[in-house]
Amino acid sequence: MPFYSDDLVEEVRSRSDIVDVISQYVKLHKRGSNYVGLCPFHNEKTGSFTVSAAKQMYYCFGCGAGGNVLTFLMNYENATFPEALQELADRAGVELPKQEVSAEAKKQADKRSRLLEVQKEAAKYYYALLRNQRGRQAYEYFKNRQLSDETMRKFGLGYSDKYSDDLYRYLKSKGYEDALLKESGLVTFDEKRGGHDKFWNRAMFPIMDVRGKVIGFGGRVMGEGEPKYLNSPETLIFDKSRNLYALNLAKSTKKPQMLLCEGYMDVIALHQAGFDNAVASLGTAFTTGHASLLKRYTKEVYLTFDSDGAGIKAALRAIPILKEAGLTAKVVHMEPYKDPDEFIKALGAEEYQKRVDEAENSFFFELRVLEQNYDMRDPESKTAFHNEVARRLLGFTEELERENYMTATAEHYHISYEQLRKLVYTLGAKGLGAKPVRQENTQPKSGMNHKNKREDGNHQAQKLLLTWLVERPELYKQVKNEITPGDFTEELYRKVAMLLYEQYESGAANPAQIISTFSDEEEQRVVAGLFHARLPEMESQQEQEKALRDVIARMKRDSLGAQKDKIDTTNLEEMQRFIDAARASKR
Ligand code: GTP
Ligand code: MN
Repeated sequence: MPFYSDDLVEEVRSRSDIVDVISQYVKLHKRGSNYVGLCPFHNEKTGSFTVSAAKQMYYCFGCGAGGNVLTFLMNYENATFPEALQELADRAGVELPKQEVSAEAKKQADKRSRLLEVQKEAAKYYYALLRNQRGRQAYEYFKNRQLSDETMRKFGLGYSDKYSDDLYRYLKSKGYEDALLKESGLVTFDEKRGGHDKFWNRAMFPIMDVRGKVIGFGGRVMGEGEPKYLNSPETLIFDKSRNLYALNLAKSTKKPQMLLCEGYMDVIALHQAGFDNAVASLGTAFTTGHASLLKRYTKEVYLTFDSDGAGIKAALRAIPILKEAGLTAKVVHMEPYKDPDEFIKALGAEEYQKRVDEAENSFFFELRVLEQNYDMRDPESKTAFHNEVARRLLGFTEELERENYMTATAEHYHISYEQLRKLVYTLGAKGLGAKPVRQENTQPKSGMNHKNKREDGNHQAQKLLLTWLVERPELYKQVKNEITPGDFTEELYRKVAMLLYEQYESGAANPAQIISTFSDEEEQRVVAGLFHARLPEMESQQEQEKALRDVIARMKRDSLGAQKDKIDTTNLEEMQRFIDAARASKR
């Protein structure tokens, strides 16, 4: 926020109608004075995501994500503040001053963008080396793996040289300081040798975020050697659980599903064969963060993991995560080949497409793996298997879906449908079923949620008051005589109240502007929540009046309680003031 004045930020914000902007990304329906839709920050089947034209804010009652139009873009597009501001300014036709500060000062101010610059410089450096005489061996390596020049270009493939510090020296010569290079993960420092490169004599795979910005690297040894792949460590800009390899390309696919692979080479081979919907996690396990990322672009994810035991295990772990996110999961079989790369090399794209078309329903995949633990010739073991199948069938919470699965399972395993059904419902009656797949508990960063922590009554009262104050401006005159910002016990609440009171004193409430004054994402979310307390249903004027009186009384009590904790009992004057106030509040 340092480059733009508050006035400028406010001008751009106020000229960007939040309903218009969010409608580009989320389907909204008008409900009362608000707009409601499915929350893009968590997975849900009913709309808890609310956009208020009057407050120029959004808030999700399901996951607690919230903010103003700028916060929305930052969270939705994973953009920085200046990027979101620029996008809105372009849209609203506001010219942002380019030269407001020197290039140097801007660099200093935004570490994220500097780290991105470093990664980009490194990617260009590796890229050029691959096309140089020095990168000959790496080029041959990629060629041997049947990658075309076009594919190498598209994925920005490169080579890190045999010298142990050439990238370090190159980046130094570009003016990047040691501290930043250390933070980039590309250079490591030790006392004896000073700085040296993390990647050394490896075939390089730049890793990009969904916008196509390089955020890290994977590097493969050419031939045998340990470790086979070396990956950048996580940094300020590289969060492995929120990025997927090649999603920047796959997000534009026209195909109905995403193909989730294990390896970089699998993704590249698939793209080269025309499967532009392939992505992979970044050398780490698949997470709920990955699932909600994919959910923005698709409804179906086909797992195309290695055919070996490790691949099966990884698939068994990924399936519940995908399902929990509300995505359909299927498994692509590549036997007798090890992975998509080898499959395509051996049989080609057409055959692979057939395997995609035949992808197995993830429930049956799970059962098939499960079955291997049981001896079907032994009646006892077989019964145990059927019981386990029934238990899992109970995990389907929707009746129709469960019925369909029971029919299909009975057919598949030659069990009588009636028998299976009885088994399922007997277990259900005993409460022995698998835990139903929960639909609404992924917790994205933007909506880290405290829903389950029962909110303190006093916080609730303070929130209610703030929400009332913005929804019913006429209350301000009355409230300000009884409650001052100092009566808000939570520091953040107090700051917000202070700003809101100031706004009323100098004109009208502008809650969306208040959000802009907080730079921390978590704070913005909480502030949005303060203006979106769930208001009790109230019919009459009297009821409303009583509710307000209750909240004010409660706040006074809590405020006194908080003061009492802090009060210095040896200071008689202060003590007396406290006693007077306590007495007054009882009246
Ligand atoms: P190749 O075809 O042999 O180049 O590899 P692959 O693309 O088939 O990958 P593989 O299935 O061997 O591994 C899957 C992913 O796990 C890779 O893309 C890497 O991200 C990661 N990985 C593999 N080996 C290592 C390793 O030795 N260390 C680390 N940290 N990650 C690895
Ligand atoms: Mn491979």
